[in-house]
Amino acid sequence: MDRYKLVIRGEQPLNGDTYVSGGKNTSLAVIPATLLCEEPCIIENLPDIEDVRVLHRILLELGAKVDFNTAEKRMTIDPRSVKSATVPFQYSQMMRASYYFMGALLGRYGTADVGYPGGCDIGSRPIDQHIKGFSALGSEISEYNGMMGLKGSLTGTIINFDMVTVGATINVMLAAVRARGNTVLTNAAREPHVVDVANFLNSMGAKIKGAGTDTIRIRGVEHLHGGTYTVIPDQIETGTLMIAAAATRGDVAIHGTIPTHMEALSAKLLEMGVSVSSQDDVIWVRIRRGHRPIRLSTQEYPGFPTDLQQPMSALLTRAGGHSEVIENIFDNRFKHLDEMRRMGAKVIISGKTAYIEGVPQLRGAPVTATDLRGGAALVIAGLMASGMTEIFNPGFIARGYERLEDKLSSLGADIHREAAE
Ligand code: EPZ
Repeated sequence: MDRYKLVIRGEQPLNGDTYVSGGKNTSLAVIPATLLCEEPCIIENLPDIEDVRVLHRILLELGAKVDFNTAEKRMTIDPRSVKSATVPFQYSQMMRASYYFMGALLGRYGTADVGYPGGCDIGSRPIDQHIKGFSALGSEISEYNGMMGLKGSLTGTIINFDMVTVGATINVMLAAVRARGNTVLTNAAREPHVVDVANFLNSMGAKIKGAGTDTIRIRGVEHLHGGTYTVIPDQIETGTLMIAAAATRGDVAIHGTIPTHMEALSAKLLEMGVSVSSQDDVIWVRIRRGHRPIRLSTQEYPGFPTDLQQPMSALLTRAGGHSEVIENIFDNRFKHLDEMRRMGAKVIISGKTAYIEGVPQLRGAPVTATDLRGGAALVIAGLMASGMTEIFNPGFIARGYERLEDKLSSLGADIHREAAE
């Protein structure tokens, strides 16, 4: 249990201007990818979140020189002093994205020993497609004491993923950029941060085409130089702030966004009767009428993102009617709804579908976060509810959102941290 809890007094509409931080999931891939370069890299617009701090520690463990200026959101990484290709189990267990060190270290040094990844408990999260890709490129694979051992010089080939997987698409791309010859990834993930990682690698001298489509072509190069790169804004934080604005019937402008990344969510909010508009990098969310119920089905990008399913289901607990939420990507991503029942939500879960009957009001209650986006969903429920909500184990939220409480407070939310008994 975390030493602090979040305390929210609900029913305060969010109004005003806020901004979105740099992307968590792109940063968690670009930072390990700097190990593929033979000169220092400067990564700009990095969010100061727990997962990025864990990567910082892992890079130091490998011997890289790292300076993370959190105030200026800039990390400088000099990989020239890396002495090890081993990421110990106690680090890799702390987050899922530690698996990107497999592709980066294997691609750069021809060897990698990385502990099995940890990550949010949202279902079984195998890495068989990552292994399939590394093996197809020519790596020998061994497993021992919770570690994954990879070794071999890599030769380009054609790899068709058995399902669309963001992690494996990026991880195998990392390994392939310096392989001998050409690699083609088919049935590849198209998420914005897949494109961002490819853009980073290309700016350092890689030759990658087709990122953002389901076929990515990579021409292996001898080496990658260093340079400076700015990561894209966080698509999921943007969506979480949009949903929070709608949930509190507020009027919010979110700056620093890429509106085209948000189209699936914007369409669903408009379907509910929420006013969503955008110009340049600003998205406005205003509530105009009550929330109509909807049917929501998570898909790979450009479909509705699974990471926004949980925040959205909080909003739907108060929609005027019956909504359906179908989670197609992960097999256990409804735990937050059990907590929301304590707040008066009416939900029936059957397989991969949650049937939500909107209620006029939620009541504040003590609830416990079970994962990152589920924690964000509980914050949104607390902002909507009458009375006080206490959220225990909010540390999950700090893993993926930079100063979420401060951003919400600046918009008028009554939310603060307190010591947890
Ligand atoms: C990434 O996870 C994100 N995490 C997740 O965000 C996100 O929900 C997910 O992509 C989907 O968009 C990071 O980027 C660090 P997948 P990842 O590989 O790579 C199955 C958050 O809240 N699969 O696209 O693990 C897998 O079990 C986190 O920020 C295999 O079966 O997702 C899942 O059902 C949560 N074998 C589906 O594919 C594999 O080898 C999609 O997984 C790989 C995946």
